[in-house]
Amino acid sequence: MTKRALITGSSTGIGFEYARYLSNKGWDLDLISQHKSRSMESKKKLSCEKAQFHIFDLGKKDSINSIINNFETPDLIVANAGIAINGAIGDIKQDEKEYYYYLMCGGVIDLIEGFIPKILHKKNGRIVIISSIGAKVSMPKSSLYSSIKAGIYAYGKSISTELKNQNISVTVSLPGYVKTEAHERAGLDHLLKKVPNWMWVTPEQVVMETEKASLKGKLEIIPGKVYKIVKPFLNLKIAVSIWKMITKRN
Ligand SMILES: NC(=O)c1ccc[n+]([C@@H]2O[C@H](COP(=O)([O-])OP(=O)(O)OC[C@H]3O[C@@H](n4cnc5c(N)ncnc54)[C@H](OP(=O)(O)O)[C@@H]3O)[C@@H](O)[C@H]2O)c1
Repeated sequence: MTKRALITGSSTGIGFEYARYLSNKGWDLDLISQHKSRSMESKKKLSCEKAQFHIFDLGKKDSINSIINNFETPDLIVANAGIAINGAIGDIKQDEKEYYYYLMCGGVIDLIEGFIPKILHKKNGRIVIISSIGAKVSMPKSSLYSSIKAGIYAYGKSISTELKNQNISVTVSLPGYVKTEAHERAGLDHLLKKVPNWMWVTPEQVVMETEKASLKGKLEIIPGKVYKIVKPFLNLKIAVSIWKMITKRN
């Protein structure tokens, strides 16, 4: 029987590559993004008859409710939609903070919890959450982003353990710098020049490693060789200083 995946944030970057990867394997896809024109562009690029393209603002509760109530129960949820957030402490307005929190944390929890009873009923399923290495390291001037990604990482880890014996795997992916449109869209394009090449991972690499980890039922994955090497040192003072120097975050 054909498997069905629901991917959020599928128009570009990691979400698009996830859609491409699964479409090549014959999956049925429900692909969600926010902007119609970008969604249409991705539809042309993907050229997959088994994919349905949907437009929702996932920073809004109504969108999540509508997806839960109207979509077929997926065999795989890839909770990926998100944006980079640039802002020093106190710089981000209250309504923006709440919106970002819902988009990348609260809304992801609502989406997963909306589908969980139906997935449990099917007695089989996988959930992939795209968090960030920012959940584990200090990110000055991106503290809100870091806290949101840490929140959804903690949630994913906990439900992964909770659902372990019910044939449902939950994997949290924690990528470092990935070459997508995210930085440019957040006005962080200077990072594309300042962060050295060896620190960048491709979206294809993120998808390949994340999907492999999910199929093995692993709780978390940090894609890319370089990040695997530095993983044990991430919270050492010296590592944080080097990270700040390389990425020019002061
Ligand atoms: N790039 C990195 O270095 C990096 C590192 C670690 C983690 N991540 C995480 O990876 C995920 C994917 O990011 P990316 O790098 O692939 O960025 P991207 O290329 O900019 O793609 C972001 C996707 O999310 C969708 N999206 C954003 N806001 C949305 C909203 N309110 N409602 C519905 N869809 C929305 C976008 O849709 P539209 O095109 O319609 O706006 C787009 O499809 C994010 O959660 C990000 O935090 C990225």
